[in-house]
Amino acid sequence: MRAKFVAALAGWLITLPVVGAEAKPADGQAVFDGTCAVCHQAGGKGMAGLAPPLAGTLGPLLTRKEGRSYIAQVLVHGLSGRIVAQGQTFNLAMPPQAALSDADLAAAANYVARELNGSTGPAFVDADIVAARAAKLSHKELRALREGLLQ
Ligand code: HEC
Repeated sequence: MRAKFVAALAGWLITLPVVGAEAKPADGQAVFDGTCAVCHQAGGKGMAGLAPPLAGTLGPLLTRKEGRSYIAQVLVHGLSGRIVAQGQTFNLAMPPQAALSDADLAAAANYVARELNGSTGPAFVDADIVAARAAKLSHKELRALREGLLQ
């Protein structure tokens, strides 16, 4: 009897984190794999001519406040027009990802920054995404900002 009870209790305890899933911090890699990898590919390796690589390409942006703001704005508002990444030219459009929650976008940004670019800088937080939603830079202005920072 007692063993059955213990087994039932253990089973219940195992289900607890699932019940609390809403409160769990967003998993950046899961967001990336579910939403971004269709274009940027697993591990952010990119797809020639279609979507730029994100692994090891964003370092100079991530160490600057304006560069971090650029990344948050690209996530929220998308990007179009010609950019060069790792010597390859890209000139397609990334659709805005504004339908994702602030927490999911911040988590995706942190995955890209930390796992794919080795950033040790401050984490992206919800407030960075809120600020990006309010920002009104055009895609052309975003590209100019990027170019200035990558020089
Ligand atoms: C439908 C395809 C598509 C999806 C989905 C997509 N992107 Fe993009 N992304 C692009 C393209 C294309 C560009 C380059 C646009 C250009 O050439 O102006 C880009 C650009 C970027 C850049 C700028 C790279 C640089 O070198 O400046 C970042 C950062 C980025 N995407 C992150 C993400 C993240 C994170 C997600 C998921 C939340 C995502 N993208 C979803 C296609 C996509």
